[in-house]
Amino acid sequence: STGGSLYERIGPQALHALVDRFYSLVASHPDLAPIFPADLRHTAEKQLAFLTGFLGGPPLYHQRYGHPRLRARHLPFPITVELAQAWLACMKAALHQTPDITPDDARELYAALSRVAIHMVNTPDSTP
Ligand code: HEM
Repeated sequence: STGGSLYERIGPQALHALVDRFYSLVASHPDLAPIFPADLRHTAEKQLAFLTGFLGGPPLYHQRYGHPRLRARHLPFPITVELAQAWLACMKAALHQTPDITPDDARELYAALSRVAIHMVNTPDSTP
């Protein structure tokens, strides 16, 4: 990919499409769906705002909601490594379903989100 931030390269329309696809996959995932609200519109709006700033665009999440404190905000949900992998699998599938994001940009975005997702793990896997 050429210069600019990942946000500039991907663009607001493709990012919006990615977030919508991601949450429709989350909504049909057996382990993820139960911990999310039934109506994902507000969650998707917050995620789009967060990713816009995270990828180098305008800091919409900070402007609307303040500091994200992502790890603290996720503490009410028991997030195991397995669940983080499920979240990332939905993101990978959503990236594959968004062909207007180039493979290079998709890889870079996925790598960045992998680092954040691992940071959200707050519960040991339930291995017998
Ligand atoms: C909110 C789950 C990873 C960003 C949430 C919510 C859940 C959740 C259940 C609450 C939804 C709501 O009440 O609207 C998970 C799980 C993850 C994960 C299981 C697996 C590791 C991530 C990652 C990011 C992220 C990697 C950042 C890229 C957010 C944001 C919100 C959110 C911005 C909205 C926070 C707010 O209420 O203002 N997540 N999440 N999450 N998550 Fe995650």
